[in-house]
Amino acid sequence: MTNLRLVIAIDGPVGSGKSTAARRVAELLGYTYIDTGAMYRAVALKALRTKIPMDATEKLLALAASARIDLRPGAFENGGTQRVLLDGEDVTAAIRTPEVSQAASKVAVIEGVRRVLVAEQRRAGASGGVVMEGRDIGSVVFPDAQLKIFLTASDEVRARRRWLEHQQKGDAIDLARTLEEIRERDRRDAGREHSPLVRAEGAVFVDSTAMEPEEVARLIAMLAREITSLKPAEAS
Ligand code: DC
Repeated sequence: MTNLRLVIAIDGPVGSGKSTAARRVAELLGYTYIDTGAMYRAVALKALRTKIPMDATEKLLALAASARIDLRPGAFENGGTQRVLLDGEDVTAAIRTPEVSQAASKVAVIEGVRRVLVAEQRRAGASGGVVMEGRDIGSVVFPDAQLKIFLTASDEVRARRRWLEHQQKGDAIDLARTLEEIRERDRRDAGREHSPLVRAEGAVFVDSTAMEPEEVARLIAMLAREITSLKPAEAS
């Protein structure tokens, strides 16, 4: 076993189970978990609060460049939830509303916004030992990541997962509306011009429709251990 600390890139659509898997893989391997969607959400929240329209490209770009977004990896004993600070304020819960979800997918279309956030993500993963999840991690942020996963599941199962999360928080939203919302977001995330959601070259395709979260995490951790058990030259 080498002490190689990998970059593990996990990409996939809404509700594919990326966050749960990424968090658990980080725990199993002793890595840092980074949820890049939270950065797009933080920019979107700031835009909503300051009433900047989602098509005001230049203003959104300036906002992304000036926002102080600080991702604090969660302690695993507390469920590993990553805390998100925006200009010093804890916005971990505030960025999880359906309104912010849609707005995040709109600001993510803007190339300049992506450039600012991608630079930050590259810095965060530069020394390895990270599980980073998003839409373009294996294709753009870390195209040389030693392990890339494309995680997906059927639309219905993804909608149900997202709906259950909202139920648990007490948000009143029905299942059919949730399905519509995730399809709308998928269309925007996969159809945009810059860094669309794609299965990156070399990414392992994992369909989590009929898998338990723990199975997904163990599968990914197993693939990672296989890579770190290779000789350094073979693993690169
Ligand atoms: O993963 P999430 O649902 O929290 O992401 C919110 C939005 O941010 C998503 O609809 C698309 C965008 N996003 C992105 O474009 N690239 C990433 N690496 C992560 C998220």
